[in-house]
Amino acid sequence: MARYGACLLAFILLFAVLPCPSSSSAPAQHTLGAGSSLSVEDHDQPFLTSPDGTFSCGFQDAGENAFSFSIWYTDAAEKTAIWTANPGAPVNGRGSRITFGRDGRLALDDFNGTTVWDSQTSGGGALTISLLDTGNLVISDDPSTGGGLPVWQSFDWPTDTLVPSQPLTKHTKLVSGYFSLYYDSDNVLRLLYDGPETSSIYWPDPNPSDSPFQSGRTIYNSSRIGVLYDDGVFLSSDNLEVHASDLGPGVKRRLTIGQDGNVRIYSLNASTGGWTVTWAALAQPCSAHGLCGKNGICEYQPSLRCSCAPGYEMVDHRDWRKGCRPLFTVTNCGPAAAASPEQRFKFVKVPHSDFYGNDLGYNKSVTFEYCKKICLEMCLCAAFSYRLDGQGTCYPKGVLFNGYTSSAFDGVIYLKVPFDFDATAPLVTARSTAGLACSPNISVTVVQGSQGAFGSSRTGDGTKWLYLFAFAGVLGVLDIIFITASWWFLSSKQSIPSSLEAGYRMVTGQFRRFTYRELKDATGNFKEELGRGGSGVVYRGVLDGGKVVAVKKLTNVARGDEEFWAEMTVIGRINHINLVRIWGFCSQGKHKLLVYEYVENESLDRHLFDTDRKPLPWRERFRIALGTARGLAYLHHECLEWVIHCDVKPENILLTREFEAKIADFGLAKLSKRDSAGDSLQLSHMRGTMGYMAPEWALNVPINAKVDVYSYGVVLLEIVMGSRVSDQTTAGGERLDMSQIAQVLRQVVATRDVVPLVDGSLQGQFNPRQALEMVRISLSCIEERSNRPTMDDIAQVLAACDDEDEHPAYR
Ligand SMILES: *[C@@H]1O[C@H](CO)[C@@H](O)[C@H](O)[C@H]1NC(C)=O
Repeated sequence: MARYGACLLAFILLFAVLPCPSSSSAPAQHTLGAGSSLSVEDHDQPFLTSPDGTFSCGFQDAGENAFSFSIWYTDAAEKTAIWTANPGAPVNGRGSRITFGRDGRLALDDFNGTTVWDSQTSGGGALTISLLDTGNLVISDDPSTGGGLPVWQSFDWPTDTLVPSQPLTKHTKLVSGYFSLYYDSDNVLRLLYDGPETSSIYWPDPNPSDSPFQSGRTIYNSSRIGVLYDDGVFLSSDNLEVHASDLGPGVKRRLTIGQDGNVRIYSLNASTGGWTVTWAALAQPCSAHGLCGKNGICEYQPSLRCSCAPGYEMVDHRDWRKGCRPLFTVTNCGPAAAASPEQRFKFVKVPHSDFYGNDLGYNKSVTFEYCKKICLEMCLCAAFSYRLDGQGTCYPKGVLFNGYTSSAFDGVIYLKVPFDFDATAPLVTARSTAGLACSPNISVTVVQGSQGAFGSSRTGDGTKWLYLFAFAGVLGVLDIIFITASWWFLSSKQSIPSSLEAGYRMVTGQFRRFTYRELKDATGNFKEELGRGGSGVVYRGVLDGGKVVAVKKLTNVARGDEEFWAEMTVIGRINHINLVRIWGFCSQGKHKLLVYEYVENESLDRHLFDTDRKPLPWRERFRIALGTARGLAYLHHECLEWVIHCDVKPENILLTREFEAKIADFGLAKLSKRDSAGDSLQLSHMRGTMGYMAPEWALNVPINAKVDVYSYGVVLLEIVMGSRVSDQTTAGGERLDMSQIAQVLRQVVATRDVVPLVDGSLQGQFNPRQALEMVRISLSCIEERSNRPTMDDIAQVLAACDDEDEHPAYR
């Protein structure tokens, strides 16, 4: 009963506070006068529709209970924004509103009245707003006095997309994360990576031998204008001319810069409403810069992967853009050093690879040995590449950025490491992970098959504190916060924290706030480290009453005490046997900590994949599968539909002494997005792990709970097989992609012969009926999104074959 308390509360508050949404639905308008508005609750209705119906604008789903104000092609199956007022700052799904005010200003207000974005126009009640058939949203002045001229138009403020007839000019650019498409000062249209540490141009090919002239561009036309025409031709004043592969009129297209830094033309398939890529600027996705961060190496085969250079490890397993750090200590190599460089360093050869840029000069016509010597003696040299063009060219590298590898590339890079360093030690456990934003705005990548893809995400200072919330359940619960907050606000007119505190006391007795001192004592001054992740370090602690807890010290929190407090009181109410319980938190200035249930038996990955452990018995496997399904079903269904985990994987399934599954790290992205309000494009929320990520992450569609269903399907299969799905190979050593895996599963289901798939270390001790059902479920989970079951369905099907007594032999 208690565990439904939070939901009930939310429901009650919801209906107590919000007026019933009006059910009248007006016919679509294409022009509105001052004083019009649309509230987010009516997101099914457009704010405006263009006269011929091609475009609509209004609220677009931007994650669970988060919305943006956008323009989209009406016929697209999923609203794909061609323009967004507030790309970095979605507003709450309740109480937010877009208003074309009597002052002539278009403004987007969040639930609490904060203006997240506005058009900065003024002109009183005579202005009108229209959505044109081109997709341009225009605010015009009074036709009788001002001539009906536009005073503001969305075409002047593109986000990441151009539509036909919308010019890219010297005053505009398309931006996605660190990437932008813009006219450079020499009149050439370029793609730029502008990251926190370096920036560089990657298109047209910046290779010195390939100047703008060679790529067919000219620097002599200063009009700096690029237009995608109705027939699918994009023409730029620097002589660039590209053709969509489905050239011809009558197709709805857009040109978009993705979060992977590539620019593509997409054409709308009129019958399915889906988008097809009909041109891409980069044929080789790894030629975008910055994708894998410092010391990271990008590889495309057939989807994009990052790995660390030998001798380096990933800095933050959620975010490749943070790159890799050396596993060795970089020693002082100044003149004071005792030994000679030859005695202190050696080189590790990495074939078919290079790091673009950051050369410490280059030397033509030198031998390999000489090149090596240059790098040895240069303190700053971290690696060198030696190319046999001409008589040998030597490029010593200072910083290892923009790394890529490809079997077709015949360059070799030599990494400088300490002489006694064993670079052959296990290095690339990080290989299979890549961070992705739990945000629908990922217009990335690459995805072929469903192996997953890499995408980076919008960034900025907002990034920092996001990681902190990656941990157990911190996010997620935002709606309740807003609802409760506004309710208390309305009812008591007191400050939010104190009234929330009162409300919280009424609701729960167990969750509490700790002082920093208390937690410092409980953990013996943060002595025993249990683990660490992107959000912070976890320590073991013992509370006064003797209760053992895990204390997570969050890093980089940029939230005020009160806000944090408000969130925490709500999170404390999420309670389900298969979710890690949060007992409390601490928020004192920069100290932000979470106190949660200590789960003794480590995470599922250890039990499934560590070969030196005894295999996890079948009965436990089945119960873990069922428990995990129930925990996710609870998050997805039992409390309004608001919590998507976004990073379901064995590492996030903790096990109790009795092998009961407890999901950790559940949380949501939308909170983070909302936090960056006002600071558009400053958004990043990295969620997801490669190998477990649904293919729609790579499409520009709103993410829903089905991403968890997909990941769950992968985990379920791993429970059956006892090995990583992403590690499966053919006899010839080729890695299987997800479509091949699905093929195998179909065959197993068709023949009902599950034995070859089941973990061999069980030596036949398993329940074939359950195993077959699990494979069947797994297969349905990795299907096309609309065909995937819900977590509720899955939990029910599994529960139905939880026949503990039927096969005692398999215990
Ligand atoms: C410069 O580019 C514009 C737009 O593509 C074109 O109309 C114009 O003729 C060009 N000017 C010259 C001198 O080529």
